Amino acid sequence: MQVKDQLKGRDFLTLMDFSIEELTYILDLAQNFKKNKNPMDDSIKDLPLRTIAMIFEKQSTRTRFSFQVAAAQLGMQSFFATPDSMQLSRGEPIKDTARVLDRYCDGLVLRTFSQKTLEQYALNMKNPVINALSDLTHPCQGLADLLTIKEHTGRLHNLNLTYVGDPWNVCHSLMIACSLFGINISIAIPKGWSPDETIIDFSTKSAQKQESSLQITSNLKDALKEADIVYTNTFHSMGHKDIEERKKAFKLYQINKKTLSYAKEAAIFMHCLPGYRGEEMTDEVIEGSQSVVLDQAENRMYIEKAILSSCVK
Ligand code: CP
Ligand code: NVA
Repeated sequence: MQVKDQLKGRDFLTLMDFSIEELTYILDLAQNFKKNKNPMDDSIKDLPLRTIAMIFEKQSTRTRFSFQVAAAQLGMQSFFATPDSMQLSRGEPIKDTARVLDRYCDGLVLRTFSQKTLEQYALNMKNPVINALSDLTHPCQGLADLLTIKEHTGRLHNLNLTYVGDPWNVCHSLMIACSLFGINISIAIPKGWSPDETIIDFSTKSAQKQESSLQITSNLKDALKEADIVYTNTFHSMGHKDIEERKKAFKLYQINKKTLSYAKEAAIFMHCLPGYRGEEMTDEVIEGSQSVVLDQAENRMYIEKAILSSCVK
């Protein structure tokens, strides 16, 4: 079976569910969308008849707009709602919501807290469910990050990426993406904090992965040594209540002019956004010549377009 046929109708819940070949296909398609605004081939010519539901339990700027613009550019229609405007907030079960939306729409893009919620929707829908961020993973961001890295370094191998920030969804998707594509990743976090064990296991032991290393250290300078990519993220994520405790714990992990200089001179600076200047990075760094954060945000749209056109039947 061809890769594009393997992807049709598939849920997009985590990058761990896909082979390197399938993810490469999506990345190449996204790159093609970026080069040529409207490539029309057999896989996308039926999409003008398609519709997607979008349910977001958390705030979003990039994911929401990039999916809606991507859908519109493919000629699809998207319908956005938050749970408080739906019968979900009055206790309607997920399985009923999922089965009803499945009768109207050709897919669901869902931003939620628990990965289990995504799985519950997927179980009750024949059409694909796409993860627009959960607490565990942010696979669309992970792919847009790979696309940005490829554009700026010319490759997806023989690279060292250092991640500094909350060891949460974005960190997890990067760990998965880096292990699959053979990028060495070093995570700098204070003692007592750790990424999820299942993701550490995947990144170190999965049969799917390519040769790459994972280092988790509390020493920022060590983690940044030889970095080709410096990736930072907020110290506190959506839904966290312990904001002040986190700011205190991560205080010494700011990427500023001095700490960025520990990386290679040609290193690029990445951030999934939204970011807090003065916390995880300084204004000087995010606005500086090494920063590629806007390309990264732009690439979300091409990735969403590639995911929609690959997975929606
Ligand atoms: N990076 C990202 O997912 O941004 P939003 O929360 O704005 O969607
Ligand atoms: N870690 C962040 C990512 C936002 C895109 C959060 O979940 O809030």
